[in-house]
Amino acid sequence: MPDTTIEALFETMRSYAAEHHVPIMEEHGIEELLELLQQQQPQRLLELGTAIGYSALRIAKALPDASIDTIERDEERHSKALGFIQESGLEGRVQAICADALELDIAKLTPFYDAVFIDAAKGQYERFFKKYESLLSPGGIIYCDNMSMHGMVEQPIKEVPRRKRTMIRNIRAFRETMDGHPGFDCELLPVGDGLLVCRKK
Ligand SMILES: C[S@@+](CC[C@H](N)C(=O)[O-])C[C@H]1O[C@@H](n2cnc3c(N)ncnc32)[C@H](O)[C@@H]1O
Repeated sequence: MPDTTIEALFETMRSYAAEHHVPIMEEHGIEELLELLQQQQPQRLLELGTAIGYSALRIAKALPDASIDTIERDEERHSKALGFIQESGLEGRVQAICADALELDIAKLTPFYDAVFIDAAKGQYERFFKKYESLLSPGGIIYCDNMSMHGMVEQPIKEVPRRKRTMIRNIRAFRETMDGHPGFDCELLPVGDGLLVCRKK
């Protein structure tokens, strides 16, 4: 697909997301993630949290040699993603799977991935990480988005809205786990909404 056409498709996807209240990565955050991925040059990438396929397709376009598996539990979003992937002409390199990533039998996925991008339920990152780290190749990188949650992770907990406290506590606990993780070198980058980058030793 010519560059101008795929850019038009991305614009359509952004409009669809805005209109239907689908959370997708904002422009600055995705640009920075793409830059990091272009430095790393993963051949195989796994994404948790497809939504409508926006970040998966942006990644596929930025990394012309990579293949991407992406998991979404919401059937309507998954089906919309399939349509956009088909339209992009990148369906040979982007495989969308409809499943709850916490319930999926990982034996159904082909190891190993050079990169895993976690952009799903924010309070469950530790569970995603523990489940999927075994699929990561040595030297591979796990990228975790929204590690600041608009600054709430750094705020005193009593200033965080009550309904968000469990999620914020979980993100804090996850960040602490990763800080001292013996198997990974981690760095929290002030990228987008806080991007935690963890390289497997
Ligand atoms: C922030 S959106 C993903 C945005 C997408 N990565 C993008 O930027 O284009 C998070 C998505 O994760 C999905 N999700 C949340 N928990 C999940 C789970 N356990 N398994 C699969 N998908 C999940 C949600 O339904 C939602 O569509």
